[in-house]
Amino acid sequence: MAEQQRSDVLAFYVNGKKVRSCVYINAFNELQLMSLRLTGSKYGCGGGGCGACTVMLSRYDPQTKHIHHFSVNACLMPVCQLHGAAVTTVEGIGSTKTRLHPVQERIAKAHGSQCGFCTPGMVMSIYTLLRNKPQPTMEEIRETLGGNLCRCTGYRPIIDGYRTFCEVISSFISGFLHAVGESLEPFRVHESDSNQIMGQRQRMAELEERATQTFRGERMTWISPISLDELLQLKSQHPQAPVVMGNTNLGLDIKFKGVVHPIIISGFRVRELCVCVCVAGVCIGAGSSLSTVRSVLEKCVCSLPAEHTQTLAALLEQLSHVAGEQIRNVATLGGNVASAYPNSDLNPVLAAGNADHLCVIPEGKREVPLDKDFFVGFGKTVLKPDEIVLSVFIPVSRKGEVVRAFRHAPRKENALATVNAGLRVWFEEGSNVVKEMSVYYGGVGPCTVSAERTVQQVIGRPWNEATLSDAYRALVDEVTLGASAPGGKVMFRRSLTLSLLFRFYLHVLQHLKDTVRPPSVTWFYPTYLVPPHYGQSEQDPVGRAVQHQAALSHATGEAVYCDDFPRTQGELFLSVVTSARAHARITHIDVSRALSMPGVVDVFTADDIPGKKFRSFTGIDEEILAQGEVTCVGQMVCAVVADTKPHAKLASAAVKVHYEDLPDRIFTVEEAVEKRSFFLPQREIQRGDVTKAFQEADHIYEGEIRLGGQEHFYMETQSMLVIPLGEEKEMKVYASTQHPTMVQEAVAETLGIPSSRVSCHVKRIGGAFGGKLSKTSILASITALAAWRSERPVRCVLDRGEDMLITGARHPVLGKYKVGFMSDGRITAADVRYYANAGHTPDDSVLVIEKILLHMDNAYNILNLRGQSAACKTNLPSNTAFRGFGVPQTPWCSAGQLKRSEVSKNLYKETSLTHYKMEFDPEVLLRCWEECKERSELDRRRLDVARFNQQNRWKKRGIALIPLKYGVGFAEGFLNQAAALVHIYKDGSVLVSHGGTEMGQGIHTKVQQVASRELDVPLSMIHISETSTSSVPNTCPSAASIGTDVNGMAVKDACQTLYKSLEPIRKQDPNGTWQSWVQLFGSNTSFIKWGKNKGHDLYMDWVKQEGRPYAYFTYSACCSEVELDCLTGEYRTVRTDLVADIGRSINPAIDIGQIEGAFMQGLGLYTMEELKFSPSGVLYTRGPGQYKIPAVCDVPLQFNVYLLSGSHNPHAIYSSKGVGEPTVFLGCSVFFALKEAVAAARSDAGLSGPFTLHSPATPERACIACGTRFTQMIPETETAQPWALELP
Ligand SMILES: Cc1cc2nc3c(=O)[nH]c(=O)nc-3n(C[C@H](O)[C@H](O)[C@H](O)COP(=O)(O)OP(=O)(O)OC[C@H]3O[C@@H](n4cnc5c(N)ncnc54)[C@H](O)[C@@H]3O)c2cc1C
Ligand code: FES
Ligand code: FES
Repeated sequence: MAEQQRSDVLAFYVNGKKVRSCVYINAFNELQLMSLRLTGSKYGCGGGGCGACTVMLSRYDPQTKHIHHFSVNACLMPVCQLHGAAVTTVEGIGSTKTRLHPVQERIAKAHGSQCGFCTPGMVMSIYTLLRNKPQPTMEEIRETLGGNLCRCTGYRPIIDGYRTFCEVISSFISGFLHAVGESLEPFRVHESDSNQIMGQRQRMAELEERATQTFRGERMTWISPISLDELLQLKSQHPQAPVVMGNTNLGLDIKFKGVVHPIIISGFRVRELCVCVCVAGVCIGAGSSLSTVRSVLEKCVCSLPAEHTQTLAALLEQLSHVAGEQIRNVATLGGNVASAYPNSDLNPVLAAGNADHLCVIPEGKREVPLDKDFFVGFGKTVLKPDEIVLSVFIPVSRKGEVVRAFRHAPRKENALATVNAGLRVWFEEGSNVVKEMSVYYGGVGPCTVSAERTVQQVIGRPWNEATLSDAYRALVDEVTLGASAPGGKVMFRRSLTLSLLFRFYLHVLQHLKDTVRPPSVTWFYPTYLVPPHYGQSEQDPVGRAVQHQAALSHATGEAVYCDDFPRTQGELFLSVVTSARAHARITHIDVSRALSMPGVVDVFTADDIPGKKFRSFTGIDEEILAQGEVTCVGQMVCAVVADTKPHAKLASAAVKVHYEDLPDRIFTVEEAVEKRSFFLPQREIQRGDVTKAFQEADHIYEGEIRLGGQEHFYMETQSMLVIPLGEEKEMKVYASTQHPTMVQEAVAETLGIPSSRVSCHVKRIGGAFGGKLSKTSILASITALAAWRSERPVRCVLDRGEDMLITGARHPVLGKYKVGFMSDGRITAADVRYYANAGHTPDDSVLVIEKILLHMDNAYNILNLRGQSAACKTNLPSNTAFRGFGVPQTPWCSAGQLKRSEVSKNLYKETSLTHYKMEFDPEVLLRCWEECKERSELDRRRLDVARFNQQNRWKKRGIALIPLKYGVGFAEGFLNQAAALVHIYKDGSVLVSHGGTEMGQGIHTKVQQVASRELDVPLSMIHISETSTSSVPNTCPSAASIGTDVNGMAVKDACQTLYKSLEPIRKQDPNGTWQSWVQLFGSNTSFIKWGKNKGHDLYMDWVKQEGRPYAYFTYSACCSEVELDCLTGEYRTVRTDLVADIGRSINPAIDIGQIEGAFMQGLGLYTMEELKFSPSGVLYTRGPGQYKIPAVCDVPLQFNVYLLSGSHNPHAIYSSKGVGEPTVFLGCSVFFALKEAVAAARSDAGLSGPFTLHSPATPERACIACGTRFTQMIPETETAQPWALELP
């Protein structure tokens, strides 16, 4: 018994300091850097999918006597696995207080951080790369960043910053230096870093004790043997205990599926599992990481004759696409094989290449072929429970053998394959007759699948079209999927099996002819931004590309986000319990088990709310916690409060909610329309005589188009901390919100106390995009209630999955259109009905459908126009504001029907009235259009595209130029107001407070620039600490692209008043300095001033159908070209040219960052991002594993952004214009380019005329729309219920 309770001391190093007793092995065996007061590594997803938590791990190898450095995701690294290792976090490489590291400095100087939440992860990925290779290639930089997501920047500036480390890009570096106006320190390992790690070498070696270690955690015992014998012994003693290696599979089960393993055996110290030898093939230790496997294979491929390396090369190809680098550095080959995941990229190639496993059990070894009999079901193999995979043997290929692997994934990198394949064929010597063949697929069944009957069609026959045609027919019958198959995309997946086989056919033909493959496309990026100068004084920062005020804090990990506030004494954590039913009555909530669990302090429901139990949005009430009835899966039902996050999570999972299902669930807008389920009012707008115009039109198109929703995917999830101050009912709320006043009001109303007792503070937000307004206020109310009841500080930070489930998304929209054209391409009439899927509560939905109608004309002068819109009430999570707020869903329908060559005929040409009778001059719109046309060389490239399409059957290109007119401002006048408070202290330093929140859009930097100009002091003297309702009350939300417009004006007002007050002193002492004037002045007066901006008097009268809902318009145009692979639907944006009118930019670097980031978000919306719900309304896509946002691989190969010169704006500060939202819409240039490419493919397939392509134009949709012979071969599936709902 005593032995059983023994626990070794876990010890490792973090940034050179030994960590022992302060680490506590929590329920999830997590590395808790927070407990070490290290906040640099961010928690974006917890599942290895985003890279925000990247750290460098260093391990001493006693055999080679070297320390190996590699990047890992801290969120999946079991703390027990760290014994004897050294962790370097972003704090460990440089700081603003001591010395910056070049890796930190360059991302900052390149304007590569906006909200900054992803920045430490980016820094550590590149730091680790440079640590191992100080002058990497561009491709290595790009590949390294493949495991890191950023939702703000669009990646271009990050790559720009880091390409300066590459060897051969000197011209780029000189442009960069010119732009940043400074020199760059070269990358070197700082002496102290080196000493630190070298000093650790000895210490790491000491910790690398050669004995089995046992660590006991809260819910599990971790045993780490050092020899194979011990491992086998342990495994036979505990056959149910898993052998953990990289923890990339097991860790997800434990964290997200609630799997409990009381004993875990770690195999990572067992050297026998890591032996690799190359004799008559390659024998790779099962414990080798995928990165090690890659480098072993690279060496073999270089050293062996080419004919022997077919399988190895195919495996290498797959490995370069598996996950991101951080995962590949820890995930093992044995783990991949043993997990038997149906989408494994390695198993199909290993099986096709005749690989064997060497398995061991205590009684001996056996060789197990990795073939069709090895995989027996989902996650199951023929391995016995006590069996360990020791190694994998991959034979060399033989003369005449061709092996190839293919994969198709929703995103080219860091995404599990939708379908993959390993294919091998062996020809009789000197002929094209097939002697042997194997075909294995992943992603089309519960495990890796062998297409044996298909293979039989080919063996003994010549490799030609006729043979393969028989094989395709056999494959259609052999590899099938039911209509409800998990993962959906049934037709697409089935057609992929055919097109991947066809690709193999082409590859083998090419191989037989020994032809050379064309080189792949090169990477281009725009030349570094050189900002315009407006001829002002050197000190005046307005109009200059000033670095984001917190860029260095982002890059060093010093930037404080809500969850970074240190834990306070007695602090509790809150976890919410959500509804598992879409529409049901709650019959009973059983909290008894949860209450008895360790650390649990409280469980409460709506009944416990002392004040208002609901929040009102647009006049309709929304319950804070469900009362009696639930109306969607994910609705918050009750909350659990415990001493730690794991305890709260475990207890919330133990709350049992009993339901009685109610009828009439509504999920789609069609169901809502049928049942008249709407949030009122519906809206309508009309101009001209639409009926008559249709009668006179030469052509009429009618149809419908769907635009899917979009998850905000801000990198920092919803976070808040509420501290009861213990006196006079005062509550201090720290929240990650765009609307501190709304949070303040919500908390006050929920607790039934005056707003004056509640203060809300926002330091910064890790991305928001509209998603941190209404939903945050409800979560803050619940957290405040917990703090109120317990009288202790309470923190709530949603996990990524919870956040995606609870907080809603962009509204999916169904548009039903009828458009009338004349033969010359002019649109003369349009009638569109928009149905937005609002979800189960109103939120901002009515405002969204209003904005849809206001923007339905976009840049087109359609004289007879009618629009109707409705917010449909459904039993899905409630959708909310999202960057663009309805605009990205709008001009879609009518303009979507235009042939690209006819767009210019329909543009507004002269001063006109919009359909809501607001006058505007489209001169700037037309300039954007013409400049974009010219810069993109549209006319020439259209011809090139046509030529390309003629010459290529399976690849097609498309090009599209799209205009945009975007109204800036809130149609509700009062929302355009702002106030600011400016303090000048006696030492001359200035503290500015204003109502805007910093969420990456750079508002604080721009406001600093404003204050610097107005007070005529250097930027360094101006500080913005936070946004707080105590400093500036009754603020408006930071939204609608007007943050800088309105808050900048308020700051300007305050500063001008202060500056004027100083005038007598300046006259009295003309040679004085700012400090001397302030000191003189400050001795006898108050140096604090309010500034106000009344805002524009905007309105929209829906009865009269007229108004002035916008302060002004901003314009832009964007041209994108894509190349589409018609066999898989994969596409690449070859080039994008974007011309934007943003008036006279206050900060062109920040504005270009906003434009690029918004464009990439739009590219995601229109071509990639898909929210999937089960037929019972459960959101499937709850993390970066299932929901793909654009990554570094999706940046257009050439991406040029131009700011239109000579544009002015009398309606906003310094003639600038709002920039945050508009260009999301321009992502649709990629969609329309894709549609053109699809049209070219359809024409080759003999399909002509208009066709529908819904958004997002995912590879699945694009591929099916191409109508290739492979998609046409797939029979219609039976009418069983599909796996996912077809939304909106
Ligand atoms: C974000 C992310 C992205 C990914 N992307 C891809 C991708 O694109 N393509 C792809 O193919 N995979 C992908 N994966 C899956 C990944 O490759 C596997 O999870 C990994 O290879 C498993 O290895 P591991 O060492 O981490 O296994 P662990 O999680 O440590 O163990 C997994 C299972 O295997 C068993 N096991 C491990 N080693 C042995 C052994 N030697 N003998 C017997 N049993 C053993 C364990 O008992 C356990 O049950 C991804 C994973 C993540 C988290
Ligand atoms: S938080 Fe670790 S990868 Fe996302
Ligand atoms: S800066 Fe990358 S997520 Fe915000």
